Amino acid sequence: MEKLEQVRIISLPRIEDPRGNLSIVEEMEHIPFAIERSYWIYDVPGGVARGGHAFREQQEFIIALSGSFDVKVDDGRQSKVFSLNRSYYGLFVPPGLWRQMDNFSTNSVALVLSSTQFDEDDYIRDYNEFVKTYTHAPTNSL
Ligand code: TYD
Repeated sequence: MEKLEQVRIISLPRIEDPRGNLSIVEEMEHIPFAIERSYWIYDVPGGVARGGHAFREQQEFIIALSGSFDVKVDDGRQSKVFSLNRSYYGLFVPPGLWRQMDNFSTNSVALVLSSTQFDEDDYIRDYNEFVKTYTHAPTNSL
């Protein structure tokens, strides 16, 4: 299956309650990987984009715990945009895709569950290198 087709919204259980709702995510149960790390992005100024990079190994699951933002995923040929705006679902992103997050609403919080511990060597931060690595596109370089 094409990598871009593996990117998908996963709905999480919702326990609705007049005292306030509750949602759950368990590794290997609701998402297809074990969680090695969690981080969150908050206090994002208006108009800013985050996460313009790809991961070689890291799988991730991104939830808009509060507010809303867009996640753009790109395989070097095509891209798709997913708008996240509820805390009871998230976006599964396999490795080997360029992804960027933008259009953060005021006070939004992005929770990222990751399959790996932090490793800068897992990042590809140069878009041209990403395209070369993942599309085997012919390049014009001599
Ligand atoms: P980065 O992943 O580049 O942020 P984003 O993709 O959202 O723009 O991380 C920003 C900085 O934080 C970078 O210097 C690496 C550091 N960082 C860690 O030290 N540990 C982590 O788990 C993460 C996600 C980032």
